[in-house]
Amino acid sequence: MEILGIDIGGSGVKGAPVDIRRGVLTAERCRIKTPKPATPVAVAKVVARIVKHFGWQGPVGCALPARVKHGVALTAANIDRGWIGTHVPRLIEEHTGCRTFALNDADAAGVAEMAFGAGRDRHDYVLVLTVGTGIGSAIFINQTLVPNTELGHLELGGHEAEVYAADSARKREDLSWRDWARRFQRYLEHVEFLFAPDLIIVGGGISRPKKWAKFADQLETQAELVPARLQNEAGIIGAAYSARILHQPEVTV
Ligand code: BGC
Repeated sequence: MEILGIDIGGSGVKGAPVDIRRGVLTAERCRIKTPKPATPVAVAKVVARIVKHFGWQGPVGCALPARVKHGVALTAANIDRGWIGTHVPRLIEEHTGCRTFALNDADAAGVAEMAFGAGRDRHDYVLVLTVGTGIGSAIFINQTLVPNTELGHLELGGHEAEVYAADSARKREDLSWRDWARRFQRYLEHVEFLFAPDLIIVGGGISRPKKWAKFADQLETQAELVPARLQNEAGIIGAAYSARILHQPEVTV
């Protein structure tokens, strides 16, 4: 069964049809620059272009950097604040005619890792962190997602953790990998102190093997610590996989 996965980010909107049984893209992904400002209507029009690109008429799963509860965006990071209060599935449905399910981007990436990546077959307590422009989080217990955890917004030494320790901080402040790793280590210690997971999966651009090799040996955690496996496809795959609930007629989303 295939579902179109869409991952809305601060710089690009990416989409591809996903075989949700195998967790793989069935066509090359389509990426369109995020419009500026990234208002709901402007982004929905981009999503409609991606839907058209694939000639898609089936269900759509949509991930975005926002807390999403019962379809409504409650926050908006790196996208226009106009998303707050928007019923995301309704908006996307209006522009595409496709039934849509929406969720937080880190939750989507986490769902994909748990089903098809580094968390496959793990039934213990798993924390997935996506590290990029911000820090996103997803917690799983026995493969069940606890949604909208937003652990990138914890306070760390007077800073918002993601402002201090995301990959964007490394780039913005021109930090060496060593200096950035020290910050990320502090963040991991704080998160472990509060949540004590068994496994931490780190996703986002820094999980690519070439980058991971630059800092991983400087991190020390009580939990097992591993890089994500699906990297920049995780959001698309997880969004599509999560949207399979649209096939259950009883569920309202
Ligand atoms: C947002 C989260 C998002 C994360 C990763 C944070 O700034 O608040 O909702 O999951 O960035 O994109």
